[in-house]
Amino acid sequence: MTAVVGAQWGDEGKGKITDYLAQQADVVIRYQGGSNAGHTVVNDKGAFKLHLVPSGVFNPDALCILGPGMVVELPFLVEELDALEKAGVPTANVRVSDRAHLVLPYHLALDRLDERERGRQKLGTTGRGNGPAYSDKVGRHGIQVYEVRDEKRFRERVAHELETKNAILERFGDEPLDARAVADEVLAAAARLGGRIVDTLPLVEHALATDARVLLEGQLGAMRDLDWGIYPYVTSSNPLAGGATIGAGIPPRVITRVIGVVKAYSTAVGEGPFPTELHGSDADDLRERGQEYGATTGRPRRVGWFDAVAPRHAHRLNAFTELAVTKLDMLGRYERIPFCTSYEIDGTTTTDMPPTHVLDRVVPRYEQLPGWGSDISGITDRALLPTAAKGYLRRIEETVGAPVGIVGVGPERTATLL
Ligand code: IMP
Repeated sequence: MTAVVGAQWGDEGKGKITDYLAQQADVVIRYQGGSNAGHTVVNDKGAFKLHLVPSGVFNPDALCILGPGMVVELPFLVEELDALEKAGVPTANVRVSDRAHLVLPYHLALDRLDERERGRQKLGTTGRGNGPAYSDKVGRHGIQVYEVRDEKRFRERVAHELETKNAILERFGDEPLDARAVADEVLAAAARLGGRIVDTLPLVEHALATDARVLLEGQLGAMRDLDWGIYPYVTSSNPLAGGATIGAGIPPRVITRVIGVVKAYSTAVGEGPFPTELHGSDADDLRERGQEYGATTGRPRRVGWFDAVAPRHAHRLNAFTELAVTKLDMLGRYERIPFCTSYEIDGTTTTDMPPTHVLDRVVPRYEQLPGWGSDISGITDRALLPTAAKGYLRRIEETVGAPVGIVGVGPERTATLL
């Protein structure tokens, strides 16, 4: 069983890697997060940005599961499935766990309210209701997907939850929501989803019993992990591979392969410390070159040089069996490429990830690696990469501590070197 997880701030290219590996998978499972995800996939069917549906959907033979660890906005899921079908991608194999939690319109409203009230301390969330939905789950106020099956009870639950949610919304000057309208919208979407809403545990159990090839698709990266990321600038779930056991419903010892996806440089959307961040025209240049705009919000991503401390932190938590390095082709034009190997904090050098407010004041220590000064996007064999590009990959291996197994040199599925 293979897990594909992000080793930086998210947006590492997990969608592309999952799509590539899913061609050989029987089951693909998303285990956390919700529509805050924006997994970009470019293949023979076109260019897609997936938010809820696993990136395995392009393999019609793979069962695609939205796992119980996810938070799901059902109307949004229906829209996403409709759009895929319209683009000629069959979605009959998509299933939603009946234990996943619902993202309801009041979670979206509360996400916006919370960000607004934090003011200058805002987190920069995607506004997809993720945090409030997980807060309700942990606070034992969440509504699980299976609850839509009993309409009368579901309507009562929504009305009851809205009493407190509306009080909060109104207290801060926002419009209250109408319980009937909220329930109507969700029930209509649930009716469209019909038999896709299932207990996914028997499916996963069967997959394990028959030695099916299972792929676990993480959302976001270690730096945004609720427990190990840069709290509070994190998401409300655990993108680490450990999160997959709970979030997909699989025993821990069956994960044998953990692929850490790293971009050849660093990017982040949202707030919080980002030591190697670039500013001004250098940032604009890399952003344009890499088309670094959020797949969910369209926000320009913050960009910076490769920071080995972050994926090293991720490796300590995930024990990557290999790394997948994406977007190496974007660095083609640089003569020298700054590469951060460690941080200096108050005169001490470290490769350990400090807590958030210490990270805020670290000084990144750079090596200057030679660039290769050529376009490598057409290369189809890893052995043919320029020597300097191979050297760059080697330095990633040495500083992170895991071997590079996959290299991406372009957005398409075919631009993937093993
Ligand atoms: P939330 O997950 O929407 O609550 O946002 C929490 C943090 O995670 C913010 O910094 C977001 O920008 C970031 N984030 C959430 N989803 C993604 C994603 O798919 N890619 C990159 N960053 C994300």
